[in-house]
Amino acid sequence: MARYLVCVTGASGSIYGLRLIRALAAAGAELHVVASAWGERVAAEETGRSLAAWLGEIGAESGARLTRYAGGDLAAPVASGSFRLDGTVVAPCSMGTAGALASGLSANLVHRAGAVALKEGWPLVLVPRESPLSLVDLRNLTALAEAGAAIMPASPGFYHRPATIEELVDGFVGRVLDRLGAENPLARPWKGSALHEGD
Ligand SMILES: Cc1cc2nc3c(=O)[nH]c(=O)nc-3n(C[C@H](O)[C@H](O)[C@H](O)COP(=O)(O)O)c2cc1C
Repeated sequence: MARYLVCVTGASGSIYGLRLIRALAAAGAELHVVASAWGERVAAEETGRSLAAWLGEIGAESGARLTRYAGGDLAAPVASGSFRLDGTVVAPCSMGTAGALASGLSANLVHRAGAVALKEGWPLVLVPRESPLSLVDLRNLTALAEAGAAIMPASPGFYHRPATIEELVDGFVGRVLDRLGAENPLARPWKGSALHEGD
């Protein structure tokens, strides 16, 4: 069974992390979840529910093995390279967390888990969200790409004509699953345009 870690930080777009957790849980993955303090706060602001409530619902729906750690718990299993993971995703990834990862700080469990993925050479996907990006942000993201992380800006496509926010987000989350090599129940490959010149 594949084992993934999803980290939620305090950038806008907690729905990306939540829909990713839902999709991985539905696919039967073993899931580990950690949120930074601001990840929890922004998720509550944006969705009107606590992360704990979301995770409880997803766990009950899917029956998935879902383990959550406190954001400050540097003694958690996922803080060590001896606890093997098939992939780590930070979604959404704040510029604060990107900066900490780029400079090797391990002030909380998200930073440490990201550093572990980089040192072990495990797949690490970052979903940054900020606009505009400063030169500092761009340099931090470049350093992380050079270190082996996949940078997937929270930037969903519109060509599948999503009708709801969930559809819009799931189109993007499907790309993250593909990048991880995870089972992808959300896959909707583009088969080319149905429009023809003159339409
Ligand atoms: C409502 C709200 C929205 C935010 N949106 C963003 C954002 O989109 N991108 C970002 O980098 N920071 C954003 N922030 C700021 C981060 O939460 C802040 O920098 C925090 O220190 C990040 O800490 P963390 O990376 O440990 O979660 C937002 C904060 C709030 C309260």
